[in-house]
Amino acid sequence: MAAFHRVWGVVVLIACWSAKGGSGTTVVSVALAACLARSSPSGALLADLGGDVPAVLGLPEPSGPGLGEWLASGHGVPADALRRLEVPAPAGLAVLCTGSDLPSAPGRAEVLAAVLAADPRPVIVDCGSTGHVPGATLAASASASLLVLRPCYLALRHAVRAPLRPSGIILVREPGRSLGRRDVEEVVGAPVRAEIDVDPAIARAVDAGLWPLRLPRSVQRALRHAA
Ligand SMILES: Nc1ncnc2c1ncn2[C@@H]1O[C@H](COP(=O)(O)OP(=O)(O)OP(=O)(O)O)[C@@H](O)[C@H]1O
Ligand SMILES: [Mg+2]
Repeated sequence: MAAFHRVWGVVVLIACWSAKGGSGTTVVSVALAACLARSSPSGALLADLGGDVPAVLGLPEPSGPGLGEWLASGHGVPADALRRLEVPAPAGLAVLCTGSDLPSAPGRAEVLAAVLAADPRPVIVDCGSTGHVPGATLAASASASLLVLRPCYLALRHAVRAPLRPSGIILVREPGRSLGRRDVEEVVGAPVRAEIDVDPAIARAVDAGLWPLRLPRSVQRALRHAA
């Protein structure tokens, strides 16, 4: 994991997003965050704009305020308000939960991006499928903007039409697909940074809320070279 951390050492804010629902964005975001937390003495911060992170981490359904409330508030909120919204999670993670719907007072998503970029910990944002302003803003302003993509024609159509351009692609590989790494790179115009197999063991760990504690070595290896 040392190499992984060195590579990502200069990257302060990593946004994972998809152009089509169900691509594996939350699974990849949590895996990346858990990998980074292992090599960071202060752990990692995972901001959830997609809404599924607590379930994947096996946390109780959040009932308090979250990013939605913070984004809806004006600029007068105390400086430490975001920090107080953090929820401790397994595997060295702290989570900023989605909270209510994600309306955004003007300029608040940009402020959120700046605050997260200034955090001394590695910060990973699950932007979801970026149909909303905060997700798109975070994905556009992150140091690494990673499109999570299954190599299928329909997902590629959505990726090409997305208003965002990723700095890299995390390919979630399924057996039997005729489209591969080169096709995806050519169509999207960005390099594939890591390939993760669709694996029933991953699905089971996710369903059990144990995903960050059961990361297969193959996934850790793949993400080590994700930069
Ligand atoms: N590599 C994988 N192997 C097996 N199952 C996977 C893998 N990645 C994701 N899944 C499964 O696919 C489903 C969708 O994954 P996930 O929730 O991460 O997608 P998403 O892009 O975040 O979806 P949404 O758009 O709803 O936020 C989940 O049931 C998850 O367990
Ligand atoms: Mg999701």
